[in-house]
Amino acid sequence: MRRPIIAGNWKMNMTVSEAVALVRQLKALVASVRDIDIIVAPTFTVLQAVSRELEGSNIEMAAQDVFWESSGPYTGEISPIMLKDVGCRYVIIGHSERRQYFGEANESVQKKIRASLAMKLYPIVCVGEALEEREAGKTSDVVKIQVIQCLEGFSRQEMEKITIAYEPIWAIGTGKTATPQQAEEVHAFIREQLGHITHRQVSQGVRIQYGGSVNPDNISDLMLQPNIDGALVGGASLKADSFSSIVKFKKA
Ligand code: PGA
Repeated sequence: MRRPIIAGNWKMNMTVSEAVALVRQLKALVASVRDIDIIVAPTFTVLQAVSRELEGSNIEMAAQDVFWESSGPYTGEISPIMLKDVGCRYVIIGHSERRQYFGEANESVQKKIRASLAMKLYPIVCVGEALEEREAGKTSDVVKIQVIQCLEGFSRQEMEKITIAYEPIWAIGTGKTATPQQAEEVHAFIREQLGHITHRQVSQGVRIQYGGSVNPDNISDLMLQPNIDGALVGGASLKADSFSSIVKFKKA
């Protein structure tokens, strides 16, 4: 019922020529995939080149962040209309690296989601706890606050366009994946929380990706979990062979 959605977050990597080379390989490797939404999220400077390469393919493009105003004196920022103009369909919002290094807060995440939806960009909204929070038994509290503060107040139609990425911070780039059970527990909890802020039926349709050291070896077990609907992949999305293997995961 929920179509799998697998996205590669390239983070601050790739020049134009590297990005074009990666996308050319990837296109060929995933050309036969029909039943999965495949997304790449390059840096702003290579969006245009990647967009051209992706024309006519089964891969969509996301940006890694966005600002909530549409134009004006906001030096260094990029607006939803600019992302749309260059061919983005999705945008990652509230990634933990933005929260950690650039002061992103739930309030700004909410504004960015609203502005993106107004431009018909599909937000991928990231939530997740730090290691100290997990060890202190606070995972549910932290994730609940993030879900409510980022996502409360959207209409049914808006919620249907939002994807959530659960990314435990301790699992990002560390090689320490959450076990499928640990991830499923939080995914089910997120869906339950969504049921409180939107119609229960809508909450059943929202796709929740897992992110944090996803690789070709652990994707199948993660995707077997009933509430895991896809993956947000960092490191393993920088090589066409590993990302395409993740996209072509097999349910055991
Ligand atoms: P990782 O990153 O796959 O390298 O752990 C995931 C992410 O931050 O989206």
